[in-house]
Amino acid sequence: MSNLFDLTGKVALVTGASRGLGFAMAEGLAEHGATVVLNGRDPASLEERATALRGRGLKAEAAAFDVSDAKAVAAGVAEVAGRHGRLDILVNNAGIQHRAPVAEWTDEDFDRVISTNLSACFRMAREAAKVMLGQGGGSIINTGSVISILGRPGIHAYAAAKAGLHGMTRSLAAELARQGVRVNAIGPGYFTTEMNQKLLDDQAFTAWVEARTPAGRWAEPAELKGAAVFLASDAASYVHGHVLMVDGGISTSL
Ligand SMILES: NC(=O)c1ccc[n+]([C@@H]2O[C@H](COP(=O)([O-])OP(=O)(O)OC[C@H]3O[C@@H](n4cnc5c(N)ncnc54)[C@H](OP(=O)(O)O)[C@@H]3O)[C@@H](O)[C@H]2O)c1
Repeated sequence: MSNLFDLTGKVALVTGASRGLGFAMAEGLAEHGATVVLNGRDPASLEERATALRGRGLKAEAAAFDVSDAKAVAAGVAEVAGRHGRLDILVNNAGIQHRAPVAEWTDEDFDRVISTNLSACFRMAREAAKVMLGQGGGSIINTGSVISILGRPGIHAYAAAKAGLHGMTRSLAAELARQGVRVNAIGPGYFTTEMNQKLLDDQAFTAWVEARTPAGRWAEPAELKGAAVFLASDAASYVHGHVLMVDGGISTSL
């Protein structure tokens, strides 16, 4: 029987893959045979990560650009697709956070988070879809959040962007499914990454995560690999517009 999760011959572009969840998902895709292109803003850290993957016999390279820069997105996706003659998998993962009481938010704070966490994902998906429609198929995976569906104080733009991303996942899926492009999202709960370092350092918050999450703990980034590989692969051939929560059960319980 063929391996439904085999990604050999596939080209995957993962944004925000210099560390954290993006790197873990890229590593998982590479471990299943894909050629992975790691995106982020810092060429040096991307090259270091790609070199580490290649050192394990995996296929990895870097493509540094800022996903909040519309021109850079169009040029970056075109460059990656041109280099490989195809683009099979896009993981929209790059994201930022801003935490403050609402009265302290500036318009610039709000716009910056929306630009990176939502508008950039639309532009990336649009440019990738052009390539995928031309080649007859592909898989787009958006990194949503438990915060797409549950509120927390102080993270207003992040919550708005992530809720929007789940909605956009469904509209893109509805439009592109018949043409062979599957669009889905992953909804992570609390993972141990740099984005959450302040929360991890806060003992009270960590105790709250452990108490509030049915699994009783934070997740490791590698625990997102399986969901990314599944949604990228033929194992998910009839999965469209789905949000796969990987959150230790936090979104399903009170
Ligand atoms: N960690 C969690 O618990 C959690 C939970 C739910 C959802 N998420 C989502 O998962 C994604 C990854 O989060 P993370 O925790 O892994 O964060 P992280 O450790 O802070 O990593 C963020 C990544 O995004 C890149 N990035 C940021 N702005 C960028 C831009 N404008 N252009 C290109 N790359 C950019 C960063 O690289 P450079 O700074 O070098 O550019 C880095 O590689 C985010 O969308 C986040 O909202 C995380």
